[in-house]
Amino acid sequence: MCGIIGYAGSGRASQAITDGLKRLEYRGYDSVGIAVLSPKSKLEVRKDKGMVEEVSSALRFTSIGGNIGLGHTRWATHGTVCRANAHPHADCTGSIVLAHNGVIENYAKLRDSLAAKGHKFASDTDSEVVAHLMEENAKTQPLIRAFMRTIGQLEGSYAIVAMSAADKEERLFIARRNSPLIIGAGKGEMLCASDIPAMLKYTRTFVPLQEGDMAILARNGYKIYSADGAEAERKQITVDWDMEMAKKGGYPHFMQKEISDQKHFINESLSSDTADAMKLICASGRIDIIAAGTSYHAGIMLSYLLQSTGRVAQAYIASDYPYIAKPDKKTLVIAISQSGETADVLQALRFAEGCRKIAITNVVGSTVTALADCVVFLNAGPEVGVAATKTFTSQLAVIYKLFYDKERLKPLSGLIGAMLEHDNEIKAVAQKIAGKENAFFIARGRNVPIAYEGSLKFKEITYIHSEAYPGGELKHGTLSLITPGVPVIALAPKDETLPKLLGNIREAKARGAFILSITDDDEVKKESDISIALPPGTDPILYPFALIVPLQLLAYHTSVLRGVNPDRPRNLAKSVTVE
Ligand code: M6R
Repeated sequence: MCGIIGYAGSGRASQAITDGLKRLEYRGYDSVGIAVLSPKSKLEVRKDKGMVEEVSSALRFTSIGGNIGLGHTRWATHGTVCRANAHPHADCTGSIVLAHNGVIENYAKLRDSLAAKGHKFASDTDSEVVAHLMEENAKTQPLIRAFMRTIGQLEGSYAIVAMSAADKEERLFIARRNSPLIIGAGKGEMLCASDIPAMLKYTRTFVPLQEGDMAILARNGYKIYSADGAEAERKQITVDWDMEMAKKGGYPHFMQKEISDQKHFINESLSSDTADAMKLICASGRIDIIAAGTSYHAGIMLSYLLQSTGRVAQAYIASDYPYIAKPDKKTLVIAISQSGETADVLQALRFAEGCRKIAITNVVGSTVTALADCVVFLNAGPEVGVAATKTFTSQLAVIYKLFYDKERLKPLSGLIGAMLEHDNEIKAVAQKIAGKENAFFIARGRNVPIAYEGSLKFKEITYIHSEAYPGGELKHGTLSLITPGVPVIALAPKDETLPKLLGNIREAKARGAFILSITDDDEVKKESDISIALPPGTDPILYPFALIVPLQLLAYHTSVLRGVNPDRPRNLAKSVTVE
């Protein structure tokens, strides 16, 4: 939540920051701002509510000259969405500016004590307090000490980038705790940002900061300090992602591109290294899986597969794990997180102290990788759309790789390709349901996590209320909501779940529901208002991969028809770094 970026180099800072903000916008998009130290050593701050494209061109961000600066795109936590609450925030003199991602939990106390010393605040945010605190500390000590002292006084989560007009050395002061921040080490220019794609235009060499780290960035290098103030070495990583991967590539939305990319990335995911994870699984007793949102649905699939081999395994919503589970030293904890930065997941992992841990993630250098004994990477390339699509199928792919041999999974790319061919048909279905108020997704067995995921995707970007159930549950309550015309989306492949699911479809149809089925069964087709065909002869274990694609397309087209931007649904952000 919130994206931050800093630049110190010999190039035009405002350009690098504006470029980066466009890539970071998926993290939060209610307001945006930039601060650059102009050639006259004056801090120029421009900010407003609105999307990056409109605000940056209206306020002419890139017209600001200067070689050092910072920027921010906001997802509001404290204070309404307005210009005053947009970042960057400044101290009383306007000489120190900063951008912050996270939540300063002790901000009210800090604010009161600073106000008592005469500080005047221009916003309702917790973040502004940090600029004033640094101003206060800089009255008695050099900037670097003042920054470190300031960071030491903060409670909560933060990724911070700060700078001062009074700093003759033109440096950025940065720090992180429970919010991501990565240094991008270019040639003669240093950057930092909440994620890697924001810096790809400038470098492929990155240094992820560790929890509690602080760093100083200047044009020619960086110095990192651990939380106790001692200089620290951190590993550099090189990524092979390129700018094209983080662009729309001719598609109107990232989401559509990412859905379509699945047929390629699935093979990358299938080639990821799962050997160490397998060893840990084989050596473990009970297995707890922790994840949120879409990743939780992949986690349910993992739990089903583990249970089918006789293992004791359960998927937990990460934010609830500490209230429910009692892991012991023999418990293996598997965290699934696309971003590797989801606060709920990180918190649950910390709660499971002493357990062996596996992380399944897409992001090299993300926080989850530092907390796990073993990491399985999705290799799905950057995912920009807020709705997770290709990373879900990638999660399923690496999970399946733990249970099935290569040959059996080989048809996956072709299967996904075949389901993508239904795009026009699904667009036509979207027209029929775009005006509805409710939708229900039903399935049984291993197809249930796909129904959950289809329903989440649908509500997330169409704003139509939707729910998903194992078909057997309909008659235990939900059937009372099935009235004439209500869409019921049935995942009905020809597997062992079909006979009973067919019964559920008939129950819904008898109440006038509009039945959309995804099936390869003639009986189901007869009962349906519309059917999307599964390829004949599909290996039953692969059905979940075939079923998810039309559901993603349905959500996408319905969203567009309803005038929603599927890449940036209201109130949401790609990376949820607050609990
Ligand atoms: O990065 P993570 O996989 O940990 O993210 C978890 C959820 O926030 C995420 O899957 C969310 O539910 C998506 N927006 C769903 O499309």
